[in-house]
Amino acid sequence: MNLVDFHTHILPGIDDGSQDESMTRDMLFEEKRQGVVDIVATPHFYANQMSVDGFLENRSAALKKAEQIRREADESLPSIITGAEVYYFSGIGRAEEIPRLCIGDTRVLLLEMPFEQWTDDVLRDVKDLIRKQKLTIVLAHIERYYRFQKDMDIWDCIMDLPLHTQINAGSFVNKGRFLRPDRRWQFCIDFLNDHPDTLHMGSDCHNMVNRPPNLEKGREGIKAKLGQEALDCIDASTAKLLGL
Ligand SMILES: [Fe+2]
Repeated sequence: MNLVDFHTHILPGIDDGSQDESMTRDMLFEEKRQGVVDIVATPHFYANQMSVDGFLENRSAALKKAEQIRREADESLPSIITGAEVYYFSGIGRAEEIPRLCIGDTRVLLLEMPFEQWTDDVLRDVKDLIRKQKLTIVLAHIERYYRFQKDMDIWDCIMDLPLHTQINAGSFVNKGRFLRPDRRWQFCIDFLNDHPDTLHMGSDCHNMVNRPPNLEKGREGIKAKLGQEALDCIDASTAKLLGL
């Protein structure tokens, strides 16, 4: 089964991820060293800062540079599938251009949710994306929102929708002091146990220093706690979702 990094900022010079070709090159080689075969490139898309056309133009220019690096390499580097990390905005559910930001030629959209209490509006938009726009929604780094949800009702309603989620690999690395699991790690383990068929892993890598490709470390954490089966389940669900 192909190992997929589902969430990366590896394309050069398009967002706060890789700053240039040399950084992208280092990241691609590191992904390869960790056994990654397919990388989903998901630069940030902010509707209040850019048009879909402008974003796609920039992404295509950045992709050309990354493909050039792949061609010039002495070994075969992971392939790159284009996508976007689309930040939620009010009304996104009815925004007709959103499907253009899906991954590759799928109807799968990586959606970054608000880092605040989710509201009825958020719920309606996510529902519209799924039911009206017929998209398969993957909520980006699901472990980063729960602490903002003082009222869990909307969270529960959204989790009941037929959607997928993505967790950052780094969150499976237990950073708890005195070897006690920290809260985020425990959330991730529980979440993976509850949603084994709809969960995808990404490094959310931005560079080689403080947010490097780290799928390998995250997978080691999962394997140590839940065994190889959990990894196999994730790999199978990701391959199925992307049609790999
Ligand atoms: Fe990201």
